Amino acid sequence: MNASDLTAGFNRGVRIAGTGSAVPDRVLSNHDLAKMMDTSDEWIQQRTGIRERRICDPDKGEGTLWLSEQAATRALEDAGLTGADVDLVIVATVTMEMTCPSTAARIAGKIGATPAGAFDITAACCGFMYALNLADSLIRVGRADRILIVGCDCMSSIIDYEDRSVSILFGDAAGSAVLEAVDDPARGSVYQSLQADGRGWPSLYIPRHESQIAEGDEDTKIRIGCLRMNGREVYKFAVTRFQRAIKDAFEKTGLAPDEFGAFICHQSNARIIESAVEKLGLPEDKVYVNIDRFGNSSAGSVGLCLDQMRKAGRIDESKPTMLVAFGGGMTWASSVWRH
Ligand code: ACO
Repeated sequence: MNASDLTAGFNRGVRIAGTGSAVPDRVLSNHDLAKMMDTSDEWIQQRTGIRERRICDPDKGEGTLWLSEQAATRALEDAGLTGADVDLVIVATVTMEMTCPSTAARIAGKIGATPAGAFDITAACCGFMYALNLADSLIRVGRADRILIVGCDCMSSIIDYEDRSVSILFGDAAGSAVLEAVDDPARGSVYQSLQADGRGWPSLYIPRHESQIAEGDEDTKIRIGCLRMNGREVYKFAVTRFQRAIKDAFEKTGLAPDEFGAFICHQSNARIIESAVEKLGLPEDKVYVNIDRFGNSSAGSVGLCLDQMRKAGRIDESKPTMLVAFGGGMTWASSVWRH
């Protein structure tokens, strides 16, 4: 099926007008972690591909709002726009500093995006993908002309640094994009999926109360408000769903791996990405990996990769880009983007 069949019924498309990202300066290396808990640089690198990650310093006021604002400001600057030019601000995060007001409303206030609509969504590591696909749809149907999206998580604020099975994976980051209407419906997300299986929630969750601790996860060391993860279950789910989501996109668009100009994958574990490269025959040089330097930044991950790749000239815009993620929920999502 070609792009015009996939977008039949729409009379406009979407372009990425600008991107931005932000990470804190503070580096937390595997060696630093090895001083805090029973782990090693070798174990972490072998199992995950991570060498170091960035984490916020709350004493300096760093956190989700701070990262989100920087990424959003940079995306607007890149697009040559101001906050007043956008109709809607969507922030995807599981680490919002307040549930009311939303992070998006506070960002909109800071960047002068008034009276743009503003709301947060939570889809864990799929957050940026959910925001991207939703924003594309709203622009296509004419409900908005320009939408600012941000994916951001300050994972260090919900990590128990005494839990070595979780703390080694995550870092803090934000990625942002300004999406804008164009006349050509063949541009933008020509195929997308947004999916979830809520039955799998106990594999990855943040209990806010003792009564929410999942069956079988009873552990005297559980810290309320910190991320709980069943690494093996998530790994099994991730390998299967991640590859299925990419395969579905190939089948539904009729595009082969070598017809893509870039693959932007959620950075959860280098082994999960490597397995997809091997099993699906993805062209290795088109698959971006930055997990070695930034770890898994949850909703920040895909937007961070998108911005870094764009700025490094690593996206061949003459070909479609595949974006794909999976995360807590359990959720998974993909988008085939024509520039
Ligand atoms: N350092 C050293 N040893 C460790 C560590 C550590 N940090 N963590 C666990 N171990 C030990 C375990 O205790 C276990 O020891 P045992 O055999 O004596 O019992 C051994 O290492 C193996 O543990 P596993 O949990 O089986 O290790 P595994 O190979 O599965 O790797 C990992 C763990 C890296 C967490 C892997 O399961 C994984 O990547 N899962 C997916 C995680 C993920 O992607 N999460 C987020 C997705 S969604 C989102 O991004 C929000």
